[in-house]
Amino acid sequence: MDVRVLPDYEAMSDAAAEIVAQKLRAQPDAVFLIPTGTTPLGMYRRLVELQEREGLSFSNATFFNLDEYLGLASDHPASYHVYMKTNFYDLVNADPAKVHVPEGAAPDPEAECQRYEAAMREAGGVDLCVLGIGRNGHIGFNEPGAPFDSRTRVVRLAESTRLVNAADFEEKCAPERAITVGMQTIFECRQALLLASGSNKARAVKAATEGTVTEEVPASILSQHPDVTFLLDRDAALLLDETDV
Ligand code: GLP
Repeated sequence: MDVRVLPDYEAMSDAAAEIVAQKLRAQPDAVFLIPTGTTPLGMYRRLVELQEREGLSFSNATFFNLDEYLGLASDHPASYHVYMKTNFYDLVNADPAKVHVPEGAAPDPEAECQRYEAAMREAGGVDLCVLGIGRNGHIGFNEPGAPFDSRTRVVRLAESTRLVNAADFEEKCAPERAITVGMQTIFECRQALLLASGSNKARAVKAATEGTVTEEVPASILSQHPDVTFLLDRDAALLLDETDV
């Protein structure tokens, strides 16, 4: 486990984009599993800049998103489909045929979960997974208690997560359920990168990196991963016993 503490959000975002860019340069057809949220916005901005400045190309890569709200149409302004198009997919030369986000409004959500899991498998598995972290330690929408052997499935969101995410919705109320890639699928990614910024993530980061490995703290599974990097800004690292800043 590599825990890197960067001075601030900008430096964390730079470092994250550089890891993604390195992967793309070494393996242009790599498979990525990537997050939404406020944390990765800086990383996405830098990746767009790298395409403009250096000609970094995304066209041969495959992208899967970690999650989507259940019941939201893909054109709903608070959907992760719209977030990803607005902040990344429409701004780079990603191939639409190689971009995947779970269909929140699929008529048969269980079938959609199986289709999505199969698509990741058929793509050869995930080379690099980039994750954010919820204040309660969730990754994707795997809330505390998510089984470590879970796959892509429909989940119920924690009330605390719905409250935090309510601001994204005009009606100030987030859906009760979501589709998320599961814990086992995340753990099987060949390389993992977790980004955390801000003091409101400090407790979750400490529990994930220095606490017991437990399903009550989903991100704690990553401490067992053979190739994981935690990229933290100073505030997210505030409670750690030892840092290399
Ligand atoms: C959301 C997403 C997660 C994300 C997390 C943190 O609920 N489903 O994938 O990592 O919350 O979001 P933020 O980066 O906005 O703090």
